[in-house]
Amino acid sequence: MLYIGVDLGTSAVKLLLMDETGEIHNTVTREYPLEFPRPGWSQQNPEDWWDAVSRGIPELLAGFDAGQVAGVGAAGQMHGLVILDEADQVIRPAILWNDGRTAKEVDYLNNVVGRERLSALTANIAFAGFTAPKLLWLRENEPENFARIGKIMLPKDYINYCLTGVHSTDFSDASGTLLLDVKNKRWSREMLALCGVREEQMARLFESYDCVGTVKPEIAALLGIPETAKVAAGAGDNAAAAVGTGVVGEGGCNISLGTSGTVFISSERFGVDRNNALHAFAHADGGYHLMGCMLSAASCNKWLMEDVFHTTDYAGEQAAIREDRLGANHVYFLPYLMGERSPINDTNARGTFLGMTMDTARADLTQAVLEGVAFAIRDSVEVARSLGLETRSSKLCGGGARSPLWRRILANVLNITLESPASEQGPGMGGAMLAMVAAGAYPDVKTVCEQLVSVASVTEPEPALAEKYEGRYRQFRRIYPACKDLFAVLAED
Ligand code: XUL
Repeated sequence: MLYIGVDLGTSAVKLLLMDETGEIHNTVTREYPLEFPRPGWSQQNPEDWWDAVSRGIPELLAGFDAGQVAGVGAAGQMHGLVILDEADQVIRPAILWNDGRTAKEVDYLNNVVGRERLSALTANIAFAGFTAPKLLWLRENEPENFARIGKIMLPKDYINYCLTGVHSTDFSDASGTLLLDVKNKRWSREMLALCGVREEQMARLFESYDCVGTVKPEIAALLGIPETAKVAAGAGDNAAAAVGTGVVGEGGCNISLGTSGTVFISSERFGVDRNNALHAFAHADGGYHLMGCMLSAASCNKWLMEDVFHTTDYAGEQAAIREDRLGANHVYFLPYLMGERSPINDTNARGTFLGMTMDTARADLTQAVLEGVAFAIRDSVEVARSLGLETRSSKLCGGGARSPLWRRILANVLNITLESPASEQGPGMGGAMLAMVAAGAYPDVKTVCEQLVSVASVTEPEPALAEKYEGRYRQFRRIYPACKDLFAVLAED
């Protein structure tokens, strides 16, 4: 049988066709527009997502026996506020995970409602990209849209709704709304009341590997797949990526170098970071995880390459970085192009180059960006270490992980072993694997991971280089605290 994995990302949807032995038969990528209506704001039209998915699936299946499709599973960019009216029409563009418009609402939630109360109710505090502060923003700034809300959902839930007609969500993605009582896996009545919404307006909660329904007949005909194809509830992209890299159960770690950068630590038991710097969310395997998320990771490199240097030759630019400069770069880069979430939680923070001199070359800037992202990932790893979660090795996925140099820099900055799975299609593969469980091909998520995930290459830290990077990281850590107040002043402009 065949399974479709949908990775609903920020710049594109990546579709993947896999059989139950884990063989990937085809992939299709379709891009869609991303709007930045004001600096730090970020929106997308849910109808563009569906358009890309519904045109992409027939393309994915061309030349294959579409009658063999037994399941679809979606992984989605998290936290996006998708609102439908009573007739299930999209009310306004979705406000995305990296949108920073809610500084005022975050301040209200964290400082008036209070971090302790929020953490007791949801296991988390407010961050600008989370869904609850966006609802407060909408109520204040677009009351006419707020009044029309029939259903609230997350990005991949909209795709599942288009496929099945069911308003569903899953625990991993719902965790990032700040409306879920993560520990008890139910909507928090108090949080819903605080945001002025009713439980009927929320999507129904499922485990990621549950089947929410089958494909509606007219949609099955449109896509060319059987009406019997089962649709899994799916997961937030990080939880799905962890499934795709086999990070399930107790104590696994996955690092994703995608548009965002995340450090994901899985656990069988519920646990909270006492300082709430890491998110405490449900996992797609039925358990839980802690996660640090930086808002701009591979996107910093993409920005430097494409928008600043006007090149797509990433490998060529990286080849110009000299071996003796590794661990010895005097240029630093703060990767806060969209503000930052973990662990500093500062919407005012901005991308910053520091330490340039007349002999600074283009390659030093490229290197500083790769290193700055690695240092910022280490910030989250350090928070995990401070909680007693010592990581000796991690899986690695995401587009940035394709660069051998970036893998090497990251392994040495973190001083841990990085394992690259055979497929770097983390979220899409995880989505297809969840569909296999939903369709009954595997009994549970752990088993499908054991059967289908394998490691293709390993990047070990090199003691001398790791030591050099230790010194560089100590310097990096001093830069943001020195700039913090200035970022706040600049934000007033
Ligand atoms: C996680 C987060 C990002 C998005 C990226 O909390 O906001 O990783 O899910 O798609």
